[in-house]
Amino acid sequence: MDNSKFRVAVIGIGLTKFGEHWEKGLRNLAIEAGVNAVTDAKIEGKEIDAMYIGNMASGRLTGQEHLGALVADQIGMNIPATRVEAACASGGLALRQGLLSILSGQHNVVLVGGAEKMTDMSVDQVTTTLMGAADEEWEGFQGLTFPGLYALMARRHMHDYGTRREHLAMISVKNHEHASMNPIAQFQNKITVDQVLKSTMVADPLTLLDCSPVSDGAAALILCREDIAKKYTDNPVYIVGSGQASDTLALAQRKSLTRLDATIMASRAAYKQAGVAPKDINVVEVHDCFTIAELMAVEDLGFAEKGKGGKFIEEGNTKLGGKIPFNTSGGLKACGHPVGATGIKQACEVVMQLRGEAGARQVKGAEIGMTHNVGGSGATAVVHVFKK
Ligand code: COA
Repeated sequence: MDNSKFRVAVIGIGLTKFGEHWEKGLRNLAIEAGVNAVTDAKIEGKEIDAMYIGNMASGRLTGQEHLGALVADQIGMNIPATRVEAACASGGLALRQGLLSILSGQHNVVLVGGAEKMTDMSVDQVTTTLMGAADEEWEGFQGLTFPGLYALMARRHMHDYGTRREHLAMISVKNHEHASMNPIAQFQNKITVDQVLKSTMVADPLTLLDCSPVSDGAAALILCREDIAKKYTDNPVYIVGSGQASDTLALAQRKSLTRLDATIMASRAAYKQAGVAPKDINVVEVHDCFTIAELMAVEDLGFAEKGKGGKFIEEGNTKLGGKIPFNTSGGLKACGHPVGATGIKQACEVVMQLRGEAGARQVKGAEIGMTHNVGGSGATAVVHVFKK
């Protein structure tokens, strides 16, 4: 594909607070984020040609399926509205579907959103539901959980590369620090390495504070054709690269437990399309469902050599003010992880950074950003590159 033609503009972003929303249902959250995005883009609802809604498990979590039509119904529009599912990468994939629909010439202005309402069920029920994203026969049926799967990856990384338990804890400490500056974050408290190490064991070596939480929330973006973006805003942000790749559902079938090949393939495709390399990226939101996931992302996205991610993190490179700030939003760990919304929230954060609107967590002079959204234990990866 001709790189120069691969540009779609983001002209609006909308978020709800992430966390427990006892007083709001899934539809309220989805509409709130959508209305915020439309308001931010200063467009009228009737200008939207289509919608793509990322959601993993509304049927099991809330009993409600048919989300595309539900959202169209709530806003009183008859436009095409499509639900997109790829487990925790549902949001990233909805974004990709929206931008491909614009690039195909089918649509001019598209709303892409993500929503999930998880806290109405017990953590046990949520854990079982989430395992639908893994290999049910080979993993779920055997009693594995997502914390268990990522714990296996963590153990192997520690064994093969000398990664220390503390390296993982530092990721959580950093993400809580970033979230303390993000008003929509679920956990805005700062924590220490010692607290992470001493928190309740979930799946050895991962403790409670290595895990993303169970969350409610929604996020939305308004995308449009590059050539009409300036009609709506003086500071559009452009999506200049998009990559998606798949891998085995089951961890046991993988060539390696210490890297996600889908991330490597999706990111290389996105870098190539954007004509950039890791050294050009100023800010990145990665899929830190568990701390080990962020450590592997540091390596798989090409910011550190394989096995050197722990050292790279220990040197402070991924902190705000460091060489390449990771997860300024607080990441999944501290901002929260309403699974279908996460990929869109990541894009909202990067757009805020590139617009210079990220307040206390602003990365100075950020011009190029990236998002990395993963489904399951790495069976889907979606990567996008954004430019001012
Ligand atoms: N980080 C920080 N604090 C957390 C937390 C987390 N991940 N999860 C829960 N808490 C807090 C709660 O706010 C609560 O605090 P409070 O007592 O002050 O109100 C306390 O810990 C206990 O909460 P509870 O809901 O009972 O926790 P739990 O032990 O039932 O669940 C996990 C904790 C880690 C098992 C659960 O959050 C989980 O399954 N996370 C992973 C989700 C996942 O797999 N996502 C998909 C990834 S691919």
